[in-house]
Amino acid sequence: MSEDLSRLLEEVRRELRPTEEEVKKGFDLFKEIKTLIESSLSIGYDYTISLEGSFAKGTSIRGDIDLDVFILIRKEDLSNEWVEEHVIKQLLASQLSKYPLQLKYASHPYITLRAEGFEIDIVPAYWAKDPREITTAVDRTPFHTRYVNSRLNDYMRDEVRLLKKFLKSLGIYGAEVKVEGFSGYLTELIILKYGSFIDALKAMSGWREGEVVIVDERLGSEHLTPRELRKLFRDDVLIVPDPVDPRRNVASAVSDRALKIAVVASSTFIKKPSRNSFFYKPLMKPPSELIKFLEETERRVLLLRYLIPKTLPPDVLWGELKRVGRRVISLLRNYGFDVIDYDFWSNELNQAIIALDLTRGGRRYEVRSGPSKISRGLLNFIGKHSSSDKTLIVWIARDGLPKAIIRRKYENAQELLSSLNSRELSAKDIVFSNIISELTDIPEDLVKNEDFMTWLTGFITKKYPYI
Ligand code: CTP
Ligand code: MG
Repeated sequence: MSEDLSRLLEEVRRELRPTEEEVKKGFDLFKEIKTLIESSLSIGYDYTISLEGSFAKGTSIRGDIDLDVFILIRKEDLSNEWVEEHVIKQLLASQLSKYPLQLKYASHPYITLRAEGFEIDIVPAYWAKDPREITTAVDRTPFHTRYVNSRLNDYMRDEVRLLKKFLKSLGIYGAEVKVEGFSGYLTELIILKYGSFIDALKAMSGWREGEVVIVDERLGSEHLTPRELRKLFRDDVLIVPDPVDPRRNVASAVSDRALKIAVVASSTFIKKPSRNSFFYKPLMKPPSELIKFLEETERRVLLLRYLIPKTLPPDVLWGELKRVGRRVISLLRNYGFDVIDYDFWSNELNQAIIALDLTRGGRRYEVRSGPSKISRGLLNFIGKHSSSDKTLIVWIARDGLPKAIIRRKYENAQELLSSLNSRELSAKDIVFSNIISELTDIPEDLVKNEDFMTWLTGFITKKYPYI
């Protein structure tokens, strides 16, 4: 390793390591919360309160610490309804409420609160004696904490932080539907496997779709071969069997795009290490500059605006948004529009955007090709177009394909979308509101929203730290 690179990594390691004061404050806070819960919760089942997640594993990043406090309950068939009725209700009414509490939902109900600069999740889960008893993802967490702590040393904890920060900076850290990237646990397993940040990046730069990474050879993934694992997790682009439960893929959330970004960024960093790879901050430009940039690159951006009538768990919201987005894009492509890119934004509260990046339209005609082989289809193509008044010319071109130049039904994407009724553009809990076809028409509240403008700038300029 070059001297410059070791100096850079050492400097970043020092910056990412939580301060002693932060760590002490975190543990004190955990103790206080534990006492508050214990003094108010009586449920008729054995339970224990334990600290899980990155703070318990010593892999949190300075200034960005969340405490994952679990209430592990020895009750089989623990249901969400039971948890809400017997645990959440009592907690909301307890002394904990001296902090602002919020009930939230992921696959399970939990409570969040903010105290002394920490974000704290209080998560009820089943207290399993053995991983084989586990039924939900949260029940597995204590086994993950134990496994990671039994194998990670302080050197590797620094390396985990480097990799986490690197992935965060790329926007691919987190397994939630919004991100579809690398979870904290996956990051830890990658470091356990390769030993250091740089060796992890070297390996990652050589990953391909369907990559299988066995972290703990001793566990042998229940003796499944990479081939068998690929078959078992056929839809996943990255396969990392959970050392705690080898029939589960820790990397199942990783999208093909996130994997690609990780591979490209690793290879870029190895060739040209930079501080920016850890501390990349996306820019924000005003609409006027974005408009100019779109003109220069001969593109056009449409924003579909959505209202969200009732608060949804983020995973549900992003899931619906992505499903509607895919539908809209395939519709546009079927009509011959050139969708270069798309993306989603939401404040995860009451509004969302689907953004479409298109080439400049405005052409009145398009060319359609028919079947290349001599067939009924070929004769039908010629027959249909020679008698249609929408068709300008139909002929058999030099490349052997039958072609027709036809008048387009919709000259631009906006016209096509406007012809749909708003129900066709909506989903169960997200309601289509309107199309913003000019960036000068972005409503005031959004122009003032820094998070939105930063996202829009990234979407239009496509300046990312991995290139
Ligand atoms: N978890 C959960 N529900 C929550 C919070 C945490 O199920 N509301 C679980 C996750 O599934 C994970 C563990 O708790 O197994 C820790 O989650 P998370 O905070 O996302 O990851 P960390 O390893 O703590 O990493 P980070 O540094 O990003 O906090
Ligand atoms: Mg955490």
